[in-house]
Amino acid sequence: MNQNSLVSISDISREEILHILDVAAYFERNPNHKLLDGKVVATLFFEPSTRTRLSFETAVNRLAGRVIGFSDAATTSSSKGETLKDTIKMVSNYVDLIIMRHYLEGAARYATEVTDTPIINAGDGAHQHPSQTMLDLYSIRKTQGTLKDQTITLVGDLKYGRTVHSLIMAMKYFNPTFRFVACNELQMPEVYKQFCRDNGIAFSEHTDFSSDVINSSDIIYMTRVQRERFTDIDEYERVKNIYTLNASMLQDAKENMRILHPLPRVNEIAQDVDDDPHAYYFDQARNGLYVRQALICRALGIDILK
Ligand code: CP
Repeated sequence: MNQNSLVSISDISREEILHILDVAAYFERNPNHKLLDGKVVATLFFEPSTRTRLSFETAVNRLAGRVIGFSDAATTSSSKGETLKDTIKMVSNYVDLIIMRHYLEGAARYATEVTDTPIINAGDGAHQHPSQTMLDLYSIRKTQGTLKDQTITLVGDLKYGRTVHSLIMAMKYFNPTFRFVACNELQMPEVYKQFCRDNGIAFSEHTDFSSDVINSSDIIYMTRVQRERFTDIDEYERVKNIYTLNASMLQDAKENMRILHPLPRVNEIAQDVDDDPHAYYFDQARNGLYVRQALICRALGIDILK
């Protein structure tokens, strides 16, 4: 396994998280560099994506590298039965870094075991999405001025939402208080609640997305109910629109509270929130570019701040 691979947010220490955020801030101020001259990066997306793939590819382009890859595995030899192992070994012959998204939990970890080429996990099933977490941390620090002592309300699909799982793990260094707002079918899995207990992280669980919860939050992190993770489509239909945030619910929110969402959204944030000063999700997605520039450099052993 290449030690520069990034599979889980738990692969990165507190100091490294803060350094990556500083590198990302540098790239926000100075986006274009020739740091990847002569390097080729593969983006292998076995699952759909807009932001993650395009921001990673833009990041490579901003750093003067080149990109190969696919956004639809049906056009590749995996549709003829080629295994993930063989695909990864083949692509490793051509590139310096592999960025991959896969529908199976553990696929990125497995990929690191069959190649010495660094792997960045761009999402594996309901498991982890560490580059999203890094851009979430960047967005929290940028809007709140700190990562410490934040009250963060996670809303929606807490069962299958890999972004909220990764965020809980990353925030363990920064003394957060979490609120988990979910219906009975989509509660935060026990393993992440136990993680909070083991790490002294305060949390409470709610089925009601109440004004008390909204008005005492520093960050509200909305999530989509993910149709693609349900085996019972009737259950999806029952819960899909259970929490919708609209502008009238924000009247007494803290002035500096910010609404994050990994996107895409479906119905969980009404369009009238887009013009509210608390809305930050489009800026959050833009931050993904700078953070992914920093993560690509880390994976290739490049440190522009040294
Ligand atoms: N947030 C996120 O992962 O978006 P995409 O699925 O569009 O990449």
